[in-house]
Amino acid sequence: MEENTLAVQYSYDSSENLYPRRVLVTGGAGFIGSNFVHHWCNAYPEDRIVVLDALTYAGNRQNLATLEDREQFKFVEGNICDRTLIDKLLEEEAIDTIAHFAAESHVDRSILGPDAFIQTNVVGTLTLLEAFRHYWNQHQQPDHYRFLHVSTDEVYGSLGPEDPPFTETTPYTPNSPYSASKAGSDHLVRAYYHTYNLPTIITNCSNNYGPYHYPEKLIPLMCINILLGKPLPIYGDGQNVRDWLYVLDHCRALDVVIHRGKPGETYNIGGNNEVTNLDLVKMLCRFMDELASHHLPVKPSMDLITFVKDRPGHDRRYAINSSKLKTQLGWAPLVTVEEGLRQTVGWYLTHRHWWEPLLSEEYQAYYRQVYA
Ligand code: NAD
Ligand code: DAU
Repeated sequence: MEENTLAVQYSYDSSENLYPRRVLVTGGAGFIGSNFVHHWCNAYPEDRIVVLDALTYAGNRQNLATLEDREQFKFVEGNICDRTLIDKLLEEEAIDTIAHFAAESHVDRSILGPDAFIQTNVVGTLTLLEAFRHYWNQHQQPDHYRFLHVSTDEVYGSLGPEDPPFTETTPYTPNSPYSASKAGSDHLVRAYYHTYNLPTIITNCSNNYGPYHYPEKLIPLMCINILLGKPLPIYGDGQNVRDWLYVLDHCRALDVVIHRGKPGETYNIGGNNEVTNLDLVKMLCRFMDELASHHLPVKPSMDLITFVKDRPGHDRRYAINSSKLKTQLGWAPLVTVEEGLRQTVGWYLTHRHWWEPLLSEEYQAYYRQVYA
């Protein structure tokens, strides 16, 4: 895992694993999925990990390159809407756990075109649930099987400045096509527990950041633009608030939920790190100026900050209350936002070979559409 531990060292406790698991990771070539696969392979070398990923624009096999030679690991290129393929994989690989990350994940793209979001996030999740239900029944409904559905805090809508953070009982109020499609998938997952007793668990997480984050999202976009000397586009007044969580802290939380979580439950996962977008971008500029002082086309990089037209329907504030996960399952984040952001800035600085090929003609066309 040498590429993505950065300076953060986690200790792995494999006593948690009562028996080796055989995990199907959907979307494992994306940002969080690939970090999760690295985490799991290192923590549980006796487990089997099968990644199923359609390699959309956001999927990148390079994220998993250092695992390709491991016997415990297998990569399958395919779509979660392909029921025949999923049935075959579940049986052939004797899967007992699905960790479901595959999704269309970018709010701005959902505003440009919602169709793919409904197809993958809703229809794809339904396809997986149906396949897993039949497979679980055929195997006499083993107790330890799990279907972990990785979802988002965006399903809860937008908070005012004085509102308490989202809890697991906050009503759903999705505001973008992306969050509406995730809400739809959450409802299906919940219904499969209540109707069929399928051992599903839902997690709703705040904004992640860290290595392998695709360039379209705020933090990588800003890091890359600073390195290229391009404007740093801040939507609206820059006072929208997000609750930032270092991606490996998220992976540790998912690990705990798979091993100790209760079927039918929902767990919120947050970083307890609320920051306005403007403050966050200023921090990135400061760290980049410190770490890359001789290599920046424009310095100080804060000079690149540019306010641009707001995102339509832009949610003002997200904040997560993760006390259920802490008190019931014993998880808490380990990485402070200062520490995590500094490491992440360092990663983008030293991984130009990773992000440069992603700035393709297709990506530039997307960029022009959003930022023109
Ligand atoms: P990502 O866009 O980086 O990766 C998504 C992955 O899914 C890609 O590898 C892509 O190729 C794959 N994929 C897309 N459609 C597919 C399909 N039909 N079949 C198979 N594979 C497909 O996303 P991410 O940021 O890693 O997010 C992962 C999950 O976590 C998503 O479900 C997202 O909603 C959720 N989430 C993300 C965040 C965040 O901050 N990034 C926060 C909370 C929840
Ligand atoms: O909250 C969890 C969600 O976080 C996940 O479910 C989504 O998959 C993930 O993409 C993320 O959604 P956001 O919309 O919050 O992330 P994004 O990085 O796109 O934007 C973060 C904030 O920064 C948001 O308020 C919009 C703003 N922004 C974003 C971009 C790309 C800008 O001001 N300028 C930009 O260029």
